[in-house]
Amino acid sequence: MKLSQTDNKLAQLLQAELNRQEHGLEMIPSENFVSPAVLEALGSIGTNKYSEGYPGRRYYGGCQFVDQIENLAIARAKKIFNVDHANVQPYSGSPANLAVYFALLDVGDTVLGANLSFGGHMTHGLKVNFSGTLYKAVNYTADKNGYLDFDEIRNLAKEHGPKMIIAGYTAYPRIIDWQKFREIADEVGAFFMADIAHIAGLIIGGQHPSPTRIADVTTTTTHKTLRGPRGAMILSNGTVSNPAKKVERIKENIPTLIDRAIIPGLQGGPHNHTTAAIAVALHEASKPEFKDYAKQIVLNAKALAESLMNEGIKLVTDGTDNHLMVADLSSLGVSGKEAETALDEVGITVNKNTVPFDKRKPFDPSGIRLGTPALTSRGFKENDLKIVGQLIAKLLKNINDASIKEGIKKTVKELTDKHPLYPDLKYN
Ligand SMILES: Cc1ncc(COP(=O)(O)O)c(C=O)c1O
Repeated sequence: MKLSQTDNKLAQLLQAELNRQEHGLEMIPSENFVSPAVLEALGSIGTNKYSEGYPGRRYYGGCQFVDQIENLAIARAKKIFNVDHANVQPYSGSPANLAVYFALLDVGDTVLGANLSFGGHMTHGLKVNFSGTLYKAVNYTADKNGYLDFDEIRNLAKEHGPKMIIAGYTAYPRIIDWQKFREIADEVGAFFMADIAHIAGLIIGGQHPSPTRIADVTTTTTHKTLRGPRGAMILSNGTVSNPAKKVERIKENIPTLIDRAIIPGLQGGPHNHTTAAIAVALHEASKPEFKDYAKQIVLNAKALAESLMNEGIKLVTDGTDNHLMVADLSSLGVSGKEAETALDEVGITVNKNTVPFDKRKPFDPSGIRLGTPALTSRGFKENDLKIVGQLIAKLLKNINDASIKEGIKKTVKELTDKHPLYPDLKYN
């Protein structure tokens, strides 16, 4: 029986969310729209199966097909990211990062990661996160223009002697120089972890250099620019040794240490429906069209950045090299929270964000973060993003003007009608 017949209440809620996605401009840079094929795999019978362990060594019977599904996802991940080993089981990005800490560090060890206000993720050493409570977290910031400051990073590394250095961000609009991090990590004898959650799709599409042969371990979510289901992967080099034998915490053993950290260290049964959907997303990402997609994400981001800056909106680092940008609204007298709410009212979804050296609090910071992966998946091109930039600027400068809001809503509708999202999908 269809969902709408068995649980109409829930079907209506899903339909409402579908309508919101269909008729709004989704500009949160960590979000995307998966293909119908990814959705089909994600909603599949893979969810019915328990398969604790790894292909060929499970704690459950009946795993002959889920073994093949997981092996397919692993093989595709290894090929596309050019690594020796891929663990595709982490439930999401945060648990993947937790697994790396668990694999490579002892509780109390020092970790050097970016401060949240400068684009870091909570799992990179925020005080209230496991990473800042169980480990001694030291945070680096950015220079006054918002760029990574390698002198500061090197000085902090030398002063604190971290066991692990983390690079990879939620709100950094520029290219990351992985090699510089490698050098600093080598100078102080630290492991180097790259977190490419945001930019995995750009890396596959040739729009950002890859860290997978430079870092000791690379984590990624699968649901952002990679355009797969909510999930994650941990990529590393070396081989998996006998799982029954104790192994030393050295680089060559990272694949074994990671596998053990995931299970039995942290997780039980893998989500086989998600693994299946990751395999599909990786297949899609291996096609030439995906390179065009990644290129268009960046072209669109640059067009949006230019449009906002032409309207006098200040962007952190004065632009972008990737899929996102952070607008500093201080000079407009509008807070990030006010901007997020006002944009929501006209169907433009963004999130409030701190700016470097923000004088306001994270719950009501001075900026907003904007990105183009989701709109690019809908077929938006540079000229559309130019219009979107003008709409955003107009609203931010006239935040209480009801008639301007009505005008913007009309243009948002025209844009979303021009680029339909899931024309064949219906829940009620
Ligand atoms: C850089 C980075 N790492 C890790 C994560 C965590 O991913 P998840 O939300 O799936 O736990 C995010 C999510 O925003 C992220 O941006």
